[in-house]
Amino acid sequence: MKHKVVTTVNGHRHEHEVEPRLLLVHYLRDVVGLTGTHIGCDTSQCGACTILVDGMAVKSCTMFALQAEGRNLTTIEGMARDGELHPLQQAFWDEHGLQCGYCTPGFIMAAAYLLSQNPDPTEDEIRKGLEGNLCRCTGYVNIIKSVQSAAKAMNGSRARMGERAAAARRS
Ligand code: FES
Ligand code: FES
Repeated sequence: MKHKVVTTVNGHRHEHEVEPRLLLVHYLRDVVGLTGTHIGCDTSQCGACTILVDGMAVKSCTMFALQAEGRNLTTIEGMARDGELHPLQQAFWDEHGLQCGYCTPGFIMAAAYLLSQNPDPTEDEIRKGLEGNLCRCTGYVNIIKSVQSAAKAMNGSRARMGERAAAARRS
């Protein structure tokens, strides 16, 4: 028997009837139609299916769609804004943090959570933060560089916004 599930995905409300056994990753891909979230293993090993659930990184093959009732979900499709790549997407591009790209959405979402918790992580902290994600192509070096580069860009833009706000208060 199907049950109703209501979610917000990348800021848009979705209401569907789904089977209780439907995994969240299959809901996103097959019901909502967002195929940027990948399935590498279906057994919580690879991290390709990582998304944000209420801001927290979650492997979406480890949840049922019904468990996402009322939650705010962010997928890779929700990262770019107004036609501009998110700094993490830009950094993966610039630093060659991908080869086949299959693991990339999961890495970017896991890194987004990491940087939300720790805006200036050390290399060790990045490695630890991404240890649930596997990449079979890159050897990880450029992935680490990409996250470092994104952290720098995001911190720089926060500093510039702070300076602008301080200047506005002074004038
Ligand atoms: S598909 Fe979810 S962890 Fe691999
Ligand atoms: S870039 Fe191919 S699996 Fe990571």
